[in-house]
Amino acid sequence: MKYPVIISAVVLAASLSVQAQHQKDSTHRQTEKHASQTTAANFKVPVSMKKEHEELHRNLEKYTKLPGKTGAAAKAVAKVLHPHFVKEEKYALPPLGLLPDLAKGKTTTQMKEAIAMSDKLKKELQQMLKEHQQIVASLEALNKAAKEEKHPEVVRFTEALKLHAQTEEEVFYPTAILIGEYLKMKL
Ligand SMILES: [Fe+2]
Ligand SMILES: [Fe+2]
Repeated sequence: MKYPVIISAVVLAASLSVQAQHQKDSTHRQTEKHASQTTAANFKVPVSMKKEHEELHRNLEKYTKLPGKTGAAAKAVAKVLHPHFVKEEKYALPPLGLLPDLAKGKTTTQMKEAIAMSDKLKKELQQMLKEHQQIVASLEALNKAAKEEKHPEVVRFTEALKLHAQTEEEVFYPTAILIGEYLKMKL
């Protein structure tokens, strides 16, 4: 009678141990999965900013088709704006996609990629600000032409795009740089 009890206890212990190991593996897999999902899902330009860029781009393209000085001035804005947006979406804005996770205290090794982007922005900051000055100068010419040719929608667009650049300078660029510095301390 004694042996079956011992055998049962050994079998039970072995089974619990296998179960525990299985659970541990599964938790580990889930953690890894969560980490890669976090990276895949959030390590990109925040949707709100992506949409804002798309809307500005779409409107500007529409205005380049206007006749007269307004259309010509809109084309001049597009020429300086497009390469600038490309750079922003490549390295200046994707680190911001990590903010919700970082605010919750979550960090993963995959976030290291943001450090390189953030460093690139830090290095290129003066150039990015210079491009904003060129964009603002071209917007002032567009604003003047749109007022003269009575395109109130285009006038409002120039103000919205100027505000967009100002927000980037005051909030988004510094935040993207700080994210890199924070990750250097954390990872
Ligand atoms: Fe932008
Ligand atoms: Fe910008």
